[in-house]
Amino acid sequence: MRSDLVAVVTGAGSGLGRATAELLLEQGARVTGWDVSGEGLRWLSERENALTAAVDITEPGQVADAAAEVRSAWGRVDFLVNSAGVLLVGALADVEPAAVRRLFDINVTGTTLVTQALLPDLIASRGAVVNLSSTVALKPSVSNAHYAASKAAVAQLTRCWALELAPHGVRVNAIAPGPTNTTLFEAAGMDVTVKETFLADRASTIPLGRTGQPAEVARWINRLVDDEWVTGHVIPVDGGMSIS
Ligand SMILES: NC(=O)c1ccc[n+]([C@@H]2O[C@H](COP(=O)([O-])OP(=O)(O)OC[C@H]3O[C@@H](n4cnc5c(N)ncnc54)[C@H](O)[C@@H]3O)[C@@H](O)[C@H]2O)c1
Repeated sequence: MRSDLVAVVTGAGSGLGRATAELLLEQGARVTGWDVSGEGLRWLSERENALTAAVDITEPGQVADAAAEVRSAWGRVDFLVNSAGVLLVGALADVEPAAVRRLFDINVTGTTLVTQALLPDLIASRGAVVNLSSTVALKPSVSNAHYAASKAAVAQLTRCWALELAPHGVRVNAIAPGPTNTTLFEAAGMDVTVKETFLADRASTIPLGRTGQPAEVARWINRLVDDEWVTGHVIPVDGGMSIS
């Protein structure tokens, strides 16, 4: 990884975004963490070579202000990790239209707004983007159809943007994690016992016999910063779940 690398990580307040930001700092990058939860970002605000911004990625004005802030502080952006996202669980018969709209607003529109806002910087640096898709985008499952559809949209945005931005030398890939123990499930309204049962059930369907840890996913996100001949791929990191 280049020594003066500047990364923007959305969703850095928790889970995969936090693990990614921690690893980038360890590897010597400068990291700007964006999250709707200012409290979640507290760990990062205390670190050297870090900036934080409380940003709702569905709000274009907030995203533009945060992009201007990183530009003025560090003058460049080489790596964007779009990890901010939410889960929606619910059968077709029960799902609320407002919840579906909010899901797509965050997972699809928010990812678009952030990438769009940082596009001039990424083109200038011939940088790289990693989006967060999901195993459920590749493999249908029951009771999270809309979440799966939002993550399938992220996978296809990844492939389309990779083609669109290749002439500028910007690479766009996605990681499709299997079930990984983060606060994604609590944020979707599951209590801890329900989450543990859910993850244990999922583990029994995974060929490697267990769910993932955030650091395992973060390692795959971060290796894509340097692989200069890889673009347009959605890479499962899922213990074999997507092939079973
Ligand atoms: N954990 C898993 O099993 C899993 C599996 C596949 C894909 N993913 C994807 O990985 C990404 C990260 O999820 P996670 O597991 O780390 O979840 P998490 O809930 O631990 O972290 C998500 C972060 O995104 C932030 N966020 C939510 N809405 C936001 C908004 N509007 N603006 C800015 N920030 C916002 C939250 O505050 C939170 O800090 C998500 O896109 C998720 O869909 C997770």
